Amino acid sequence: MPHLLFEPAQRLWLLSTPSTSYAVRLDADDNVRHVHWGGALTPAQAGELAERTPAAGSSFDAAGGAEELAVEGGARFGPPSLQVRFADGTRGVEWRYAGHDADDGHLRIHLDDRHYPLRVTLHYRVHDDSDVIERWTTVENRDEQLPITVQRCDSAAWTLPHRTGYRVSHLVGGWNSEFQLRRAEVVTAETVFTSRRGMTSHHANPWLALDDGTAGEEHGEVWSTALAWSGSWRITLHRDPAGRTTWTGGHGHEGLTWSLAPGETLTTPVFAGVFTTGGFGAAGRAWHAYVRRHVLPEPGEPRPVLYNSWEATGFDVDEAGQTALAARAARLGVELFVVDDGWFGGRVSDHAGLGDWTPNPDRFPRGLRPLSAEVHRLGMRFGLWVEPEMVNPDSDLYRAHPDWVLHMAHRDRTEMRHQLVLNLARPDTAAWAHDWLDRLVDEHDIDFLKWDANRPFTEAGWPGHADPDRLWIEHTRSVYQIMDRLRANHPGLRIEACAGGGGRADLGILARTDQVWTSDNTDPVDRIAIQHGFSQLFPAQVMGAWVTDSPNVATARETPLRFRFHVAMAGALGIGGDLTTWSEDELKEAAELVATYKRIRPAVQYGTAYRLTGDGALTAVGYAHEDQFVVLAWCPSRPYGHEPAPLRLTALDPDSSYRDQDTGTVHSGAVLLRSGLPLPLPEGDHASALVQLIRIED
Ligand code: GLA
Repeated sequence: MPHLLFEPAQRLWLLSTPSTSYAVRLDADDNVRHVHWGGALTPAQAGELAERTPAAGSSFDAAGGAEELAVEGGARFGPPSLQVRFADGTRGVEWRYAGHDADDGHLRIHLDDRHYPLRVTLHYRVHDDSDVIERWTTVENRDEQLPITVQRCDSAAWTLPHRTGYRVSHLVGGWNSEFQLRRAEVVTAETVFTSRRGMTSHHANPWLALDDGTAGEEHGEVWSTALAWSGSWRITLHRDPAGRTTWTGGHGHEGLTWSLAPGETLTTPVFAGVFTTGGFGAAGRAWHAYVRRHVLPEPGEPRPVLYNSWEATGFDVDEAGQTALAARAARLGVELFVVDDGWFGGRVSDHAGLGDWTPNPDRFPRGLRPLSAEVHRLGMRFGLWVEPEMVNPDSDLYRAHPDWVLHMAHRDRTEMRHQLVLNLARPDTAAWAHDWLDRLVDEHDIDFLKWDANRPFTEAGWPGHADPDRLWIEHTRSVYQIMDRLRANHPGLRIEACAGGGGRADLGILARTDQVWTSDNTDPVDRIAIQHGFSQLFPAQVMGAWVTDSPNVATARETPLRFRFHVAMAGALGIGGDLTTWSEDELKEAAELVATYKRIRPAVQYGTAYRLTGDGALTAVGYAHEDQFVVLAWCPSRPYGHEPAPLRLTALDPDSSYRDQDTGTVHSGAVLLRSGLPLPLPEGDHASALVQLIRIED
């Protein structure tokens, strides 16, 4: 079946993905109306649906059903996706259809304002191998003289079929507590999910999943969307009194305005959506597959086991200390050694030096090259922490360029973590950032950058610029461009996205990075919940997860090394403890666990993930990959000392048998599916198990 079909008599478009359909139509006034998003429909069935004009809520309301990109104007009273004001003060838009074109699964529907020279194009893209539909909008000012003011320009609005009620799943959190999953009834109101921080995901992440309240992990219809943007964003979920449920979202937040110059086109980021029928698990797996196939630059490359010095040394980094850590890391089987904050300028604490990106001569008198060479000699790759968007006021950079930061006349420059944000929307600041990064990577044989951004925007002004709110878009685009250029110039370079932990995790940043630093919270018990939330959208291979020291620095909780490893093995494994204090026994156990991780890495990093729930506090993830099913199970506490029941598995062949790789025990698939896998859990709290099952041919 073709991806895209146009039925001229009804002015109906039908988009098809492998198992879903999406349909829109033009009404008599050239408004693009939503028809269907859900299970697959034939063209005839979509046509039948298109004939129905959804009823108005009342005679005081406009009829016609939800729009694909509602504008201001006419009898529309819901949240607009597009708000513009023309130079003469007129607001709102009246559409005239201006044709469509399509190629390679990409449909463009063109709409002009009936009077003003405004062209808007609705973009839809579908793929052969994914049910994810990508949508975005372009807005073009075709006037030769006058600007157009844009007050809101969303990527897309999404619409659900009419049901008695809906539930929304979303991710909230902050520093040390990212990606907490929340579920709530959709109320008859406008509910705004947003970040005004200039960064994506501390506070909330631009991912949502909607269901009618009955979906579970492995059953039920789920409609899920995610925005591919790494700056401020806003999604307005609207259930109106007549029960229509829609949401509209895109970059920017309320109060910002952008001026579209004559001849200029504004392109929004992609707002992607997927419909699945297998519950939240299937929705997550659809996202994971999409991220691998259509987002990540290097999806097929194994993420290396990394070591990062941050929790071990804080700001106290020097050549001798890092060399000692590198030697121990190499013994454990670490493949990438990353030096964190504190290697440059006067950066001996978070008070000074940010912006002065040359090695600190007291700490690295010979520069970084000897350390980089030693790390490479030990057989590891060499990584370095950078924070290119930020500056300490106490730095040579700030003293030379106080105007390079986001600021406003007559306003304080609010410091957070003693730092300010550089305005990378400025071409001179962006060029400076690219140049030093490019040189740094070149001169020190750097294989990996941990790109951090530790504070949100405040006083986000751009004095002297005619359209200062542009920086909310252009700063993020500039970050993208710098990363893209660095990758193009240094094809071996890999990048980790970090923003005070997981403050900038989204489909936009993942198009030019390889993994995300999930959270500064490395407590394994807290991590189980953080990782559960993260996995709703992102695959395990991008989820940076370290094993650190016990007691944990954030929570003071003491946990066994094995438990810490088993939790971190559910993602891209790293080690972040102070290895100089680990005993020989701990180092030996850690080396064994790293070797085990490498054995299961293909399943974790390329497999299909199933979130499993057992008895009481027991949770687990299973990764199906080729003939393997790998289970990582965690039991943080054991109320009343009760032994958890066997863990029921999923996605196995009931007619096959599976051998436990470590014990040799053979289980039948049917028993694992129906009764479960008895787990070899040690006694007491913070128990965990890893079981690698291999299907055996009968
Ligand atoms: C942020 C990161 C940490 C570490 C510090 C360094 O908090 O999330 O992992 O890199 O900055 O200052």
